Amino acid sequence: MTIAAIDFARLYRDHMAATARGPKAAGDWNARAGSVGKRLAHGGYAEAFIARMDLSGCESLLDVGCGNGALSLPLAARLRHIVALDYSPAMLEALREGARAQGAGNIDARLCAWEDDWNDVPECDIAIASRSTQVEDMAAALAKLHAKARRRVYLTHRVGGHFVDPQILPVLGRRQLPLPDYIYILNILHGMGIHARVDYIDGGEPAAITGFDELLRRVAWSLGALDADEIARLHRWHDERIGRGPILMPARRWAFIGWEKP
Ligand SMILES: C[S@@+](CC[C@H](N)C(=O)[O-])C[C@H]1O[C@@H](n2cnc3c(N)ncnc32)[C@H](O)[C@@H]1O
Repeated sequence: MTIAAIDFARLYRDHMAATARGPKAAGDWNARAGSVGKRLAHGGYAEAFIARMDLSGCESLLDVGCGNGALSLPLAARLRHIVALDYSPAMLEALREGARAQGAGNIDARLCAWEDDWNDVPECDIAIASRSTQVEDMAAALAKLHAKARRRVYLTHRVGGHFVDPQILPVLGRRQLPLPDYIYILNILHGMGIHARVDYIDGGEPAAITGFDELLRRVAWSLGALDADEIARLHRWHDERIGRGPILMPARRWAFIGWEKP
């Protein structure tokens, strides 16, 4: 068998379908727009993303899964027109608030999902998707992003599938498949004839958990809802573990993937 025999688009879909949690729903993100959504902009991530972009010769940008505008807001100061899509109304509202606050009148924020009909989404010089590619069908999402970009495409996707301390899964008694990581994307793109550039953005220092409630919230966000037995196990682990020093959540690492249109 050779690599040409592998259908990476199908492999990704099968992997995503086999994970216990799959993609999140808009409502999950609405709930985070006010709190964690604001934090998404911090930690130097947006600066690191923008530093890796080539804006030369470009005036317009499409930002898919724009969230609260960690990228759309700073880029609005450097480009003429931004089209920002997200399926979470609360995230879009946070973005509009940010745009008002900085007097940016050039952001067209639209309620639109990866999976929606994109006929009305305009082509832009650059298309980006930052930390927003947890979809059921990656090949379809990449094809849409590629089709809407005139010159360049940039995206980030998780490196490694779990964003929690590896000790926690055995504590819960779970054998959970990690979410598909960026390596699928490179292979799907290769199959599309696209030889993308890859770099990595590290998500800063590991964060110390401030208490059990925060630990539970973070674990449930990463692994899906916990049942009563799992919550009790996690609580026991927390109480025992905290006696030996701060509990650190591992820093996130993102693969930054970019390519030029021919
Ligand atoms: C981790 S946030 C990233 C936000 C922003 N791009 C950034 O890097 O800070 C993920 C965003 O993608 C959006 N999102 C996730 N799945 C989506 C989908 N299927 N269609 C549209 N937006 C989606 C969420 O609502 C959320 O705002």
